Amino acid sequence: MQTPLAIDSAEKASKKALDSSMLSPRFYTTDFVAMDQLDVSSMRAEWDKMMAEYEGDNNHDHFQRDEQFAVEVAERFSQVSPEMRQEFLEFLISSLTSEFSGCILYNEIYKNVENPDIKQLMRYMARDESRHASFINQSLKDFGLGIDLGDLKRTKAYTYFKPKYIFYATYLSEKIGYARYITIFRHLEKNPDKRFHPIFRWFERWCNDEFRHGESFALIMRANPHLLRGGNVYWIRFFLLAVYATMYVRDHCRPMLHHEMGFESSAYDYEVFRITNEITKQVFPVSLDIDHPAFQQGLAHLYFVQTQMDMAKARGGLMGLLQRGRWALSGAITFVRLYFLPVKQQELSHPVRIVPAW
Ligand SMILES: [Fe+2]
Ligand SMILES: [Fe+2]
Repeated sequence: MQTPLAIDSAEKASKKALDSSMLSPRFYTTDFVAMDQLDVSSMRAEWDKMMAEYEGDNNHDHFQRDEQFAVEVAERFSQVSPEMRQEFLEFLISSLTSEFSGCILYNEIYKNVENPDIKQLMRYMARDESRHASFINQSLKDFGLGIDLGDLKRTKAYTYFKPKYIFYATYLSEKIGYARYITIFRHLEKNPDKRFHPIFRWFERWCNDEFRHGESFALIMRANPHLLRGGNVYWIRFFLLAVYATMYVRDHCRPMLHHEMGFESSAYDYEVFRITNEITKQVFPVSLDIDHPAFQQGLAHLYFVQTQMDMAKARGGLMGLLQRGRWALSGAITFVRLYFLPVKQQELSHPVRIVPAW
């Protein structure tokens, strides 16, 4: 779907990053006192090993461009259509906003806690996300669309989440981020002619950072097992569905991006869901039944609802407003139906940590 706001200036790029619609990445804040009281001592051996990996910082020299970068942008990316260029710019802005969202949250927790385990972890993760955000911003700057991150930090709205919601949501977004990046990287490794921008060459080592960030939240949750049972399982189901559904709708709103890479959006998304379902066995006692026909129909309907909402919004006026209300209700009913579909029960893995083997 064509974006209503063509991104052709730094001002419009910043406006896009500020967007706080349902589908756009958000900034979060949380309860720092509760974060300070976290205890990971029951996972000490795995935790210390992970901290040594952060300390080793094997990606410290990864986020530098090579000489070939500019050549590929000039020779390959300049060939894409104007619509495709818009979708890619939107992809960069939404990825940058997600990376920077992690950077801000982790950095705020770092500054507001004394607990040495949590403080150290947050410092490392903020370091990584800051590199990721800056690296994407460089690619926006190539087109004169660099985003002022200090300004974004000051002006974008923040959503408050209790620590446990931060754990479920952030764990998932780190792991799904890994699954998205590795799926693209592996595919373009086999089809280099489809690599229309050099940034994808960085994805393999990049997504190992995201994988490790996810591992950190897995250890925090496994060290606090009450987060993973009883009534909390209903929250886990909610976050799984919210994260999967948002990704599905957002990706289907950018079909050209996947097509240009030689993917079909649904096939790509289900591959990412499959990998994420596999990984989340380390921490969640349930997974969504992504192969259930009602699940697949429900997601397809949510995307259809989004297209209708966009049309109604473009139409405007009272009629547009009424139609938006009607489609919002249809979307909400579909979400509830999806929520109550049967889920798959699973045993948690021992040890907790797994290797990024995809
Ligand atoms: Fe990141
Ligand atoms: Fe991350």
